[in-house]
Amino acid sequence: MARGHQNFVCQACGALTKKWQGKCDACGEWNTILEEVALEAPGFGQGAGKGKAVKLSSLSGPADRSERFMTGIAEFDRTLGGGAVPGTAILVGGDPGIGKSTLLLQALARMSESGLKCVYITGEESVDQIRLRASRLGLQDADIKVASETRVKDILATLTSAERPDVVVIDSIQTMYSEAVDSSPGSLTQVRLSSQNLIHFAKKTGAAIFLIGHVTKSGQLAGPKTMEHMVDTVLYFEGEKTYQYRILRTTKNRFGSNDEIGVFEMTGTGLIEVKNPSSLFLSDHKEATEGLAVFPSIEGTRALLVEIEALVVGSPAAMPRRAVVGWDSGRLAMVLAVLDARLGLGFGASDVYLNIAGGMKVVEPAGDVPVAAALISSLTKRPLPADMVMLGEISLSGDIRPAAHLKARLKEAEKLGFGRALVPKAAKLPKTTLNLIKVEKVGDLLDLFDIKATS
Ligand code: TYD
Ligand code: MG
Repeated sequence: MARGHQNFVCQACGALTKKWQGKCDACGEWNTILEEVALEAPGFGQGAGKGKAVKLSSLSGPADRSERFMTGIAEFDRTLGGGAVPGTAILVGGDPGIGKSTLLLQALARMSESGLKCVYITGEESVDQIRLRASRLGLQDADIKVASETRVKDILATLTSAERPDVVVIDSIQTMYSEAVDSSPGSLTQVRLSSQNLIHFAKKTGAAIFLIGHVTKSGQLAGPKTMEHMVDTVLYFEGEKTYQYRILRTTKNRFGSNDEIGVFEMTGTGLIEVKNPSSLFLSDHKEATEGLAVFPSIEGTRALLVEIEALVVGSPAAMPRRAVVGWDSGRLAMVLAVLDARLGLGFGASDVYLNIAGGMKVVEPAGDVPVAAALISSLTKRPLPADMVMLGEISLSGDIRPAAHLKARLKEAEKLGFGRALVPKAAKLPKTTLNLIKVEKVGDLLDLFDIKATS
């Protein structure tokens, strides 16, 4: 980055331009371009003087496998890939009010019990507010040091002067600032510089640092690309405000799988782990209901049973409605087209609504079969068996393709007391106590309803 040249930076996407402009060409946002004043700030430019040679090592030396810091919260540790790695930075993103501060305070309390020195720095609240939250959570006696501060220089001075902490929480990175650059807290430049300095501290001292980050309207972390590249692990804490459950999702992890999830429930006294998440998303339907199918989905490495609800009703409109919540509308259109073309089921004159119960989101193609079954069930007003789970991807030709992780999916269904599973015929079938119904073509689904295809 040459000085005096491309020093206008879009605060939304990080793109560089040579001159100021009202609209960023890269991301299309308006009024986000600011001049970056101090390119020579610590960590940015190369500063004065010559560089010195660094020691080069061979690849075959011993790897440092230092012990991980366990949070003691199994759902959290799993998303971290088995605890936090010392000397790394973990970004925890999420909507305001979703429970990030609560989660991290609870995790710190557990970590301090195991003898780790923990520090919680807040730029959002006062120390009193943190104390209030701690007593609400029953953690007022936990050995956590708290400070309310936003100036990174002072924070680093504190962390290096006092007893060296093992774990530090910064709540939130958007409130932190450094005078080295001339832009306001929360701007891309500030977020980047503050993170850089804090991450440097973690690497140097071997502390694990959790950076809490807010998500922008469009669902991204402010200063998205830069932040995600700088840290070692990115977790998102998400959920619907109107539901009690929260999902902690790994989207990047240098030290573990990057598609893990941990499930929590927000209660009056903090977050509790949900060991059996499927029970959270299933209703207690004992009798069969029209338009309802149960899908054993996979989130990360774990299976989760979700209910798919479809409603098909005659439409007075020339352009019938298609509304989807929690599933992809493009896939719904595709499944409807296949059902129309291959089976002659006419959805053309009907409104179609599809919903994943409990506010869950399903992105797997293996959800095609339960979606199709729920649609046919609602169209024909014939319920699906209440003790059956189903899965499989539907191709445009109407074939049903196998899906991965069948063993875990069927085990979860067994655990929750289901008796039957409808699975793709081509799949390699694991041992199971479930009664398996194998299907090959989308037309085979009609057997469930005792109807014949008309095309
Ligand atoms: P908080 O951790 O402050 O969210 P964030 O840091 O992500 O902004 O949690 C905010 C919400 O959680 C708030 O609406 C109150 C609720 N809450 C509970 O329901 N139970 C609790 O024990 C606590 C501490 C908070
Ligand atoms: Mg907070």
